[in-house]
Amino acid sequence: MNPMVTLNIDGQDIQVEPGTNVLEAAERLGVMVPRYCYHPGLSVAGSCRMCAVEIEGMPKLQISCHTRVRDGMKVSTVSEPVVRMRQAMLEFLLVNHPLDCPVCDQSGECDLQNFYMEHGLHESRVFEDKIKRKKAFPIGPHVMLDQERCILCTRCVRFCEEVSESHELGVLDRGDRSVIDLFPGRELDNNYSGNVIDICPVGALTEREFRFQCRVWYLSQETSICNGCSRGCNIAVHSNTQRSYKADGRRVQRLKPRFNPLVNRWWMCDQGRFGYGFVDRGRIENPCLRVGGELQPRAWDQVLEEVATALRTAVEKFGAEGLGVIASPQQSNEELYLVRKLFRELLGVARIPFRNPWEEESAGDGILLLEDRNPNGRGAADLGLQGDAERTVEAAAAGEVKVLYVFGHDFDSDRARELIRQAEYVVFQGANWNSTARMAHAVLPGVTHMEKEGTFTNFEGRVQHFAQALPPLGESRPDLEILCGLAQRLGHSLFYTEPEELFSEWRGRSYGDLGEFGEVLGSNGSGAG
Ligand code: SF4
Ligand code: SF4
Ligand code: FES
Repeated sequence: MNPMVTLNIDGQDIQVEPGTNVLEAAERLGVMVPRYCYHPGLSVAGSCRMCAVEIEGMPKLQISCHTRVRDGMKVSTVSEPVVRMRQAMLEFLLVNHPLDCPVCDQSGECDLQNFYMEHGLHESRVFEDKIKRKKAFPIGPHVMLDQERCILCTRCVRFCEEVSESHELGVLDRGDRSVIDLFPGRELDNNYSGNVIDICPVGALTEREFRFQCRVWYLSQETSICNGCSRGCNIAVHSNTQRSYKADGRRVQRLKPRFNPLVNRWWMCDQGRFGYGFVDRGRIENPCLRVGGELQPRAWDQVLEEVATALRTAVEKFGAEGLGVIASPQQSNEELYLVRKLFRELLGVARIPFRNPWEEESAGDGILLLEDRNPNGRGAADLGLQGDAERTVEAAAAGEVKVLYVFGHDFDSDRARELIRQAEYVVFQGANWNSTARMAHAVLPGVTHMEKEGTFTNFEGRVQHFAQALPPLGESRPDLEILCGLAQRLGHSLFYTEPEELFSEWRGRSYGDLGEFGEVLGSNGSGAG
């Protein structure tokens, strides 16, 4: 094993692995060296010169992103030549940068603004007209490009070469006529295009969906996990909770990837990033009962009472075989644990499937997106729930199962609809209207994963925590509250108030024990694996 390298940065000693660059070594000491072209997930371009530092014994300033640490190195990130260099680079970048800040969507999270406030603040010496370039125009379904605001750091170009490997963008022309643009006949429409918005340090690449929706300083952020596939990318939910849902129909303003070196690194796919419409659209906002052939909103108490009576009657007359329960791989581990506890352990239902056999087949993309478009199939399997739901739905159609309790699934095929139609009594519990919910006799409005706390287990067994980012919409309630209410009406004392109580009971540990990046746990449901 290589010995560690010791160097000194701004008077502080630090030991790092050989091969580390000076910029990263400084970062570990909490020293933020300004940078534009450097991104830890991309190759080093060394073109912007913003990260220059002074290194003892070297005649000129060195770029810290492209200088490896050496034993005994003495670095200054704050010396006078370094500060002057930063000011000069900022002045140079601003020669042709438009004065767009008041109308720029990046304002508040722009590294040109931020570094200028920290390191610039000089009087302008430029009196000539700025070079005009092409202003905001779409370059793909999700991304707008403003060539005037671009500082030619080439992060976006390197991303499309190295990560998405889709090669749509390049630097065209030379000198002060250089621009970022699409190659002829191309469009930025790969499944990772949204990442260039995140890594663009200025307002040159902005998100079409988010532009002019909300100033960034009005956004709240909460940590979450994407539910778009079984990868479990770490994300942040940006929402404007001051804005009324009824007014504009949109509380989630955007999703951003969170760094997890073991799952998604800095990235997320567009399918996950832009697929949050289900949080505010098509929601079931009230409990409903079928009255005279139509679903009508009713009070929670009345609906829970009717569902409890249906369950009780079925069990009393036909035993546990009279109940068919289909859990969902969209539910959290805590909810699945509770489903198992109530229906299997207390009511005796032997087999609880969780897969929708009529779900369309999907393909992975070889980068992050996986074939399994559910976030928690692995968690359901770890809890001992059993695969395919077809048998249960068929038993309901044949009259063997008297009450069919479906969590969230959309059994949207001619055959499935036909089977559900024949079922005696269908309870649907979920967040969004779908063809199965519309055919149910009782509908219990659940919440989306952004409106509750819990954990998902990704495809490789990594258990990851997500926080509640939004309050429940309308009268919807978390499954925990619905199932405990139902259990109590059935005479069972299930009294959980927080999902963490269920997690601790199942895993024998707290959410805090999972650490920042989640933890791979064994499938043993009764304790830590
Ligand atoms: Fe850099 Fe943004 Fe310009 Fe791309 S568009 S080169 S990321 S400044
Ligand atoms: Fe979400 Fe999967 Fe895309 Fe990651 S790869 S952002 S988990 S859909
Ligand atoms: Fe080092 Fe650009 S960040 S040269």
